[in-house]
Amino acid sequence: MRELIISLVQTINGSYAQDGWSTGVSTKTDFEYFKSLRRRAGAIIIDRRTALNPALPLVNAPGKALEHTPVHVLTESDPEVLSGQLEERGLDYRAQHFSPDTLTRVLESIESVNDTLVCESGPNLAYRLLDAYPGAELHLSLSPRYSRNSGSHFSQLEASLELRVIDAKTVHDQVFIRYVKA
Ligand SMILES: NC(=O)c1ccc[n+]([C@@H]2O[C@H](COP(=O)([O-])OP(=O)(O)OC[C@H]3O[C@@H](n4cnc5c(N)ncnc54)[C@H](OP(=O)(O)O)[C@@H]3O)[C@@H](O)[C@H]2O)c1
Repeated sequence: MRELIISLVQTINGSYAQDGWSTGVSTKTDFEYFKSLRRRAGAIIIDRRTALNPALPLVNAPGKALEHTPVHVLTESDPEVLSGQLEERGLDYRAQHFSPDTLTRVLESIESVNDTLVCESGPNLAYRLLDAYPGAELHLSLSPRYSRNSGSHFSQLEASLELRVIDAKTVHDQVFIRYVKA
């Protein structure tokens, strides 16, 4: 089975974004860790809203480290509509439909240059994948800050997930915790 690493950064008050952008909750140390996960990625997974956000840089931009890494946008909504929207915007991302029941098959079949898939989505997709893919690892990066403003973003996903910690380390006040489902 393919390895699925889900990468998320949050503040101590559970915010995943500030002003619609995760930079505000990230730190230099977090970004270094994020880049180390990218170096392992055979394919990147993002969510529909992140993919269509015009403010975000192209993940596989020419000349960038991930130029040749497939980027898959996983959605539970209509992948045809999403494909059209991605094409209109000139985004070289592939729309993939999934449901909790089909997720394992979808992840086994998507194009990837190696067996490690890294999810860089927002929390809604991230936690849906953690719930539905056996063995998925959540790499949660906790920034040493409290931050809430009108653009803060919290997970809206309604779910109950019991987790187990498989590793924890602190680097320059940033805490990295690896979880799997209990
Ligand atoms: N902190 C981090 O590590 C990190 C990483 C990436 C992005 N972000 C930030 O997170 C925000 C976007 O992430 P998000 O996932 O929360 O975005 P979202 O727009 O809330 O959700 C993304 C996708 O999840 C589905 N969705 C939306 N609302 C849902 C709900 N209430 N319950 C279940 N599924 C729902 C939809 O997918 P379908 O296509 O299936 O309909 C949607 O396209 C942005 O502000 C971005 O900057 C943070």
